Amino acid sequence: PNKCAIFDLDGVLVDTAKYHYLAWKELAEKLGFEFTLEHNEMLKGVSRMTSLDILLEVGHMKDAFTEEEKVKMATEKNNRYVEYISNIDESEILDGALPLLQELKQKGIKIALGSASKNAQIILKNVGLEKYFDVIVDGNSVSKAKPDPEVFTLGAKTLGIPYEECVVFEDSQAGLEAAKIVGMLAVGVGQEKDLTNADVVYSSLKDFKIEQYF
Ligand code: BG6
Ligand code: MG
Repeated sequence: PNKCAIFDLDGVLVDTAKYHYLAWKELAEKLGFEFTLEHNEMLKGVSRMTSLDILLEVGHMKDAFTEEEKVKMATEKNNRYVEYISNIDESEILDGALPLLQELKQKGIKIALGSASKNAQIILKNVGLEKYFDVIVDGNSVSKAKPDPEVFTLGAKTLGIPYEECVVFEDSQAGLEAAKIVGMLAVGVGQEKDLTNADVVYSSLKDFKIEQYF
């Protein structure tokens, strides 16, 4: 039986993917090219600096900047993003997330966060979800980014739960791939066409059948 649920944050529990998109789009516009929602799919689950590299590739500017300039651009994007998320509240919690967290808690299932974001703590705090987590692993606690599974395995290890007894909830291909590498069940949240790495896909957490998995 599964004993642990590991949640990605952006795009799974909270509706913050749209703010990442807006902030990246603004940067692209400044650089003189368009960054579409379709391009944005490639950034989901991906670390900040890798996201920038992908964005620059879209604008055919891959080798146009020094490392220092790139750090400056990523910082600028992050400042914009932090502005967006600094005022969010529980209205940004995605459909079905709260009842699922509550039910898992009631059943005694351990709950971990496995997010690539360095802003995870502030988001959890602003939307009031902090208290549900037995362990929080985010972009500050790991050195390797998804699809490396470190962000999930660290949580499982901390809780002392075998990987095969963990269920991962993800809205990104990179994250689903990471879960599968270590034998965790990979639940995609989003559209089936975008999430081909998943074991099973739900368009929303509110459709997730908890009794089938826990
Ligand atoms: C992930 C998002 O959760 O966090 C990515 O899906 C984002 O889009 C990544 O790039 C890193 O986030 P941050 O907040 O540290 O820039
Ligand atoms: Mg995500």
